[in-house]
Amino acid sequence: MSASTIPTPATTHSDAKPHAKATAIFTCVLAALAGLMFGLDIGVISGAQQFIQKEFGVSDHALEWIVSAMMFGAAVGALGAGWLSSSLGRKRSLILGAVLFVIGSILCAFAQSPDMLIAARVILGLAIGIASFTAPLYLAEVAPEYIRGAMISVYQLMITIGILVAFLSDTAFSYSGNWRWMLGIIAIPGALFLIGVLFLPDSPRWLLMKQRDAEALDVLQRLRGNPEIVEREANDIREQLKTPQRGWHLFLENSNFRRSVGLGILLQLMQQFTGMNVVMYYAPRIFQDMGYDTAAQMWFTAIVGLTNVLATFIAIALIDRWGRKPILYTGFAVMAVGLGVVGSLMGAGSHGMQMFAVIMLLVFIVGFAMSAGPLIWTLCSEVQPLKGRDFGIGCSTMTNWIANLVVGFTFLTLLNSFGHTNTFWLYAGFNAVFIVLTFWLVPETKGVTLEQIERNLMHGKRLRDIGR
Ligand code: BGC
Repeated sequence: MSASTIPTPATTHSDAKPHAKATAIFTCVLAALAGLMFGLDIGVISGAQQFIQKEFGVSDHALEWIVSAMMFGAAVGALGAGWLSSSLGRKRSLILGAVLFVIGSILCAFAQSPDMLIAARVILGLAIGIASFTAPLYLAEVAPEYIRGAMISVYQLMITIGILVAFLSDTAFSYSGNWRWMLGIIAIPGALFLIGVLFLPDSPRWLLMKQRDAEALDVLQRLRGNPEIVEREANDIREQLKTPQRGWHLFLENSNFRRSVGLGILLQLMQQFTGMNVVMYYAPRIFQDMGYDTAAQMWFTAIVGLTNVLATFIAIALIDRWGRKPILYTGFAVMAVGLGVVGSLMGAGSHGMQMFAVIMLLVFIVGFAMSAGPLIWTLCSEVQPLKGRDFGIGCSTMTNWIANLVVGFTFLTLLNSFGHTNTFWLYAGFNAVFIVLTFWLVPETKGVTLEQIERNLMHGKRLRDIGR
């Protein structure tokens, strides 16, 4: 999520023209729909797995490959996305992401062998890797200051809605067991997103980077509606562009920047090792192992998706009131307890406790969606200094996908080698450790300007104090 971007406050609520405000919101929501593709990609495989496994007769390990190929593609896509979005531009990168998404979904639907499915999922991954870097970058560049935070949350909300829609469509197709439709149908929202992106304006910041000043001013005029604001913001951006992005060099020569890159990487590791994607990818399997039949597995999975969407609103409501750290403490604690209890109950194998285990899994989902889901993306966009923001956010986004890959790739093996109880307790333990790491290393950034955070970081303040 880049905010390379995040210009100094130029616009205030009161001086924006209403129709320009509506255009800006519409533009942002359209771009945030990229989150929908992210979510569809994450969610769609869970319901399809058992049918894929039956048709191709593959082992659990081969299934892990099929699940994880997408995350591998996404890590590669996120790595290349910085270059793409600066050379092709944000809009064309999003178009490329959407085209790859449509092609990947269709290829998945027609895959004739596990290998073909793996290759198609790598393409889907590339699409989502590009989108997960570019969309937040674009959002931060076109959103006026006063809705920027909300727009980042809308992006996460779209991710959760995408996951829910995928779970629901998986449930609908589970009656016929048609996994090809499950994987193929997401090409439709992908195609709609592609059409939508064609109507997006280019990012004014990118246009200015390319010295296309007249076009940049024109886009800004449409988004801000007030020539004075346009002038001020264009000057701010020009001023910022004088500071060249020196990511890799800065990383080599500046230990303070290495600390913020390290922090971004750590934050994304924490998000992924909560174990959230274990549930996103393998929920029906978990419910199966709790003793539920196929219909119940699919419906509970849909409820998981709905809980994830609804609980995201808790974060949106609290993020600027409670601040980041109290929400993270609460979320990690809730997740640790939720998974700990699920692990114990699955070990006990008591039939009467089945429903309690489902409820505790939902408690875990609430813990994630109200905290680490949206907050980690927000924090990652806040802690990097301007000079290295693209590089820093590129590193953390890539870490998100690599860690996602590790989690997706190892879950079934963990279950088969250590059993359910130990596997869930392992993730519960991680969440407990993250409470300590949050206390020790994560800054509180509520209500602090990005410039202040940068000054503190570069003056060598402790990471946990850079928001003060
Ligand atoms: C994470 C994804 C996760 C999703 C669940 C996102 O913030 O990056 O890995 O699947 O939240 O809602």
